[in-house]
Order: sequence, then structure tokens, then C-alpha cells
Amino acid sequence: SNSYRLLILPGDGIGPEVMAEVRRVAEWFRDRRALPIDLRQRHFGLASWQAHGSLMPDETWAEIEAADAILFGAMDSLDQAIRIPPSERRKGSLLRLRKNLDTFANLRPIRAVPGLLDASTLKREVVDGVDLVFVRELTGGVYFGEPRGVETLSDGRERGVNTHVYTSDEVERVARFAFELARRRRADGKPGRVHSVDKSNVMEAGAMWRRIVQRVHDADYADIELHHMLADNCAMQLIRWPRQFDVIVTDNLFGDLLSDCGAMITGSLGMLPSASLSARGGASNRRRALYEPIHGSAPDIAGRGIANPLAAILSFGMCLRETMEMADEADRLERAVDAVLAAGARTADLAAPGKPHLSTAAMGDAVLDALGRP
Ligand code: IPM
Ligand code: MN
Repeated sequence: SNSYRLLILPGDGIGPEVMAEVRRVAEWFRDRRALPIDLRQRHFGLASWQAHGSLMPDETWAEIEAADAILFGAMDSLDQAIRIPPSERRKGSLLRLRKNLDTFANLRPIRAVPGLLDASTLKREVVDGVDLVFVRELTGGVYFGEPRGVETLSDGRERGVNTHVYTSDEVERVARFAFELARRRRADGKPGRVHSVDKSNVMEAGAMWRRIVQRVHDADYADIELHHMLADNCAMQLIRWPRQFDVIVTDNLFGDLLSDCGAMITGSLGMLPSASLSARGGASNRRRALYEPIHGSAPDIAGRGIANPLAAILSFGMCLRETMEMADEADRLERAVDAVLAAGARTADLAAPGKPHLSTAAMGDAVLDALGRP
């Protein structure tokens, strides 16, 4: 069929609450903008374990394989007290999902929203105008490297091991991805600049990373400005002067740490979307893709209807842009979110202490209202 098959996996905690709003927004684009969207929904995660005895039922996995994109809510971090066998834990894990889909490029855009500058802990003049995007390598590095594990030595000491590994082709494909993205962004009036982040002063694999990124640049992307930066310096520069960045490409672990650091530029983790993309699957717009808010399942506020649905809604916006290649529709959604925030709408995570705030559903209503205005 010619429609895009989008699979909603609400998952655990606040996942179902925020994904209910994503569903309404996606239905709006399907019904009111006549976009070819075939929406489906399946169980996954702890809720699925409780209902079906499996974190990732085979039937859900089959839907994942058939989908053009996954709209993912959140997965519970699975308290060790809950009796789920290790094999089942591995089968249902987010890392397994990323690996199986081969979504090696994780995009995490950080954009200062004009209506929200005061929500950041950083000064307004530092935050104003920030528009950067992380390209985090997502299927390699220390998250997956072998050997790994903990062993007990003959003298009773324990030895814990994890291994940071990259092959040259893994570095090359994520570097190409970052340079292509920088080119596209330059067309939107951004500088066309890539910072590649590593610890080449300490790690041999980091020195290799740097060499390969430079080689890819010199061969095919000499029109893009390339800077190499050490990861510790990058953490400082993100807080000191974030406007210097356009595209930041880095490995799985540094990307995890630095993107949380970058997240505070916007003031709330509840605002940040992400896209995890793979080049597999033929035509570029039908590559496998996983869209998820950066925040987790937030069990402390789950079930109260107060979670901020904007990160999940903006993740659907990334799906419009990346999977469906409908930049105008993605812009329409981002403008609606900006307008809602500019008008002062705030969920609890964004509201000043003691100020009234909107429920999850009321924030969804506000976005739908703004979409409906010409
Ligand atoms: C993220 C999360 C995950 C990661 C955890 C939940 C495994 O922190 O998506 O950033 O480390 O990749
Ligand atoms: Mn993280």
C-alpha cells in the first residue's frame, strides 16, 4: 500500500498517557491533512509482561518488522524485584530493539524555544538562538562491545569488564549521516558545521574515530566545516557557548551523556524528541526508524495525567520530517507547539512553582487547537 505504516508502542509509566496525545495528533494529520498514515498500536514492556507474560510478544515483533516507523512511548527500567527471567529481559529491551532495527543514527535536536527561554537554568543570552542536533551512534561502542560481564577471580576479587569497540565502517556510516544532515541544515540557513567528539587523547579507538571522520570529510564533504573536540571539553562548551554548535557527531556513550547535558538548555527533558534511523530498507524514506521522547517512563508521576506530551508529539514531528519526508507538515506541527508555548501553556514540568498548569490531555487539546487555526 502507499500509506505509511506507523506503529505506536505506548509501553510503561507515562508512555500510554503521552502516546494517547500523539495518536490524536497523528489522526489529525491523517484526517485533516489527508496524509497517508496507517496507524496501529501494540503492547510492549512491563504492561505486556503482566498481561501476556512477555515483554515483547512475537506478534508485536512481527508488527515492528512490518512497520515503516515505530512511535515509542517509554519502557520501565524494570525493577530487579519483578521476577522476569534474564532471557526475557534481554529479548524485550530497548537496546535489543535498536540493535535489531539497526538504527545506528540517533538524532537529538536541541532548539531553544522562544516562549521557554526562562525555563532553562542557563542565562537567557546563552540559550537564545540555540539550534543544534546530536547525531549519537546508537548500535555500537561500549553498549554492545564484547567481552562484557563480571567474573569472580580465584582470590575472591571481582572483575567487571565492558569493551568500547568500533569498526571503521560503523564510524564511516555515522560520519556520512552527520555530514549529510549538516548539508540539509545549511540549506535552511544554518552554518553547515560538524563537531566530531571523541577522546582521541586517551583511547586508540577514539583516535581511529577521528581519523575516519576526517577522511570521510576530506573525500566527500569538504564543503562542510569540520571541528574535532574532546568529549570533556564538549561538555563544558555546551554550557559555556552552545550557539557554536550545529551538528555534533559522537559515539554511543558520549552521545548519551552529552545529550542529557544539552537537554538542560531547553529547561525540560519533557520537551525533547529523538529519531533513531537506519539506512537499511531500500528507498531512503522507507528505512527503519524509531521515534521516541528522550524522557523515560517517569513512574513517579505516571497515572496522574500531568506528564508533558510535547517530547512525544515532537517525535512524531520528526517522523513527518524523516520517514515521510514532509518537511512542510513537520514545520506546521513545530509552529503549533511554539505557538502554544508562546501563549503561556505549561505542563507541570515547565510551570513556575505554584502556578497553574495544564494536564497532559489539555496540552494535547492546545496543540490540536493551534493546528486547526490557519
Ligand atoms: C537513552 C537512555 C538509554 C541509553 C537507557 C535507558 C538504556 O538513557 O536513550 O538515552 O542509555 O541509551
Ligand atoms: Mn540517556
